[in-house]
Amino acid sequence: MVKELSQEFYQNKREALYDLLPDQSATIIGAGCEVSKSLDENYPFYVNNNYLYLTGLTEPEGILVLAKMHGQNSTTLFIRKPDPFKEKWFGRHISIDAAHQKSGIDDIRYLDEFESFCSDLKGLDYYEDDTVPDHQKREFGLEHKHSLLPLLSKMRLVKSEEELALMRHAIHLTHLGINQILANLKPGDFEYQAQDIFEYTILSHGAEETAFGTIAVSGEDAPILHYMTNRKRMVDHTMILFDLGARYRGYCSDISRTFPVNGHYTRDQRALYEAVLQAQRDIIPYYQVGTNMRDVQEKSRELLNQYGLATDLFDPEKTIDDYYYHGIGHSLGLDTHDLCEDRRVTLKPGMVITCEPGLYMADRGMGVRIEDDILITEAGPVVLSAEIPKSVDIIESMM
Ligand code: GLY
Ligand code: MN
Ligand code: MN
Repeated sequence: MVKELSQEFYQNKREALYDLLPDQSATIIGAGCEVSKSLDENYPFYVNNNYLYLTGLTEPEGILVLAKMHGQNSTTLFIRKPDPFKEKWFGRHISIDAAHQKSGIDDIRYLDEFESFCSDLKGLDYYEDDTVPDHQKREFGLEHKHSLLPLLSKMRLVKSEEELALMRHAIHLTHLGINQILANLKPGDFEYQAQDIFEYTILSHGAEETAFGTIAVSGEDAPILHYMTNRKRMVDHTMILFDLGARYRGYCSDISRTFPVNGHYTRDQRALYEAVLQAQRDIIPYYQVGTNMRDVQEKSRELLNQYGLATDLFDPEKTIDDYYYHGIGHSLGLDTHDLCEDRRVTLKPGMVITCEPGLYMADRGMGVRIEDDILITEAGPVVLSAEIPKSVDIIESMM
């Protein structure tokens, strides 16, 4: 177990956002609302991660207002009223006291005051992330709308030690799940059985959920980047590519590994696997403070091309773009593809960026992706997922 984020964490984040807000402005951030799936059922509710980041609260419909007027900051949170009927069916509404304990916000009111409250903010510029739905928003009476994303992106990209502890734990849970896959994988089983073993393992060790829809793609479908059906039987002498992660106290891991279904890579599989692995080993040292991800992307193309050509698997008529057609990495955090205004970001200490080179050969019916989560530090890149089996020898010995 790792400590949950403290009240001070959320207070500090709100303070940091105030520092970025100009005077005479406000931000309005919604928790989001439930969405109906069918007559008596809603889709699972996922709170807006910006709201979570600034309050720690996970219930729907809440609205956070940070206002800065004449240099004075005022924070107000609106939450649902108690509703004995609804709560009997769908669960308790958080109380004002419990919301205060979690978030550290003193001024907490019920939502029916939100509209009249907004009239006090008339004339201000306002920053939002389009999470307050129109029926709640009505007329803010606020002047000029701006996107909140550039401000929050700056903050969310750089993780604090408390956040990193949660991310390390999400990665640890993923490691446990992958070990169980390795112990159980066999030809003839379905892809979803491997998925189930992973998901059972992470949930039974405390993950809230998977970080994203688990990808367990075997054989010739491996070049499909976001394959999530996972319904095929795994065929002997093929590989299976897993792209998966755990969510722990809101924070995500994002790991890819490619295993031989029967425990032994064939000659060609091994050649492709080693090419991607060698490229990844060479790319990671570029994850340095001050490097721009645009340059890392270009380097990854060069290296995958170099190591791919060194196998005899590449078709001379094709180019690297036929074999490698996605980004080398993205910021990771509360979202798997974490809030980031521009993917071509310049790296700073405290960022966590994935490194996920891959080579996909539709003509040979195979593909390999290897993905790790990298912490950027002044002393160089730290592979947070370094313990998760990756070399051919270790993988084969564990299967
Ligand atoms: N799992 C999605 C990604 O690796 O970006
Ligand atoms: Mn991934
Ligand atoms: Mn990724």
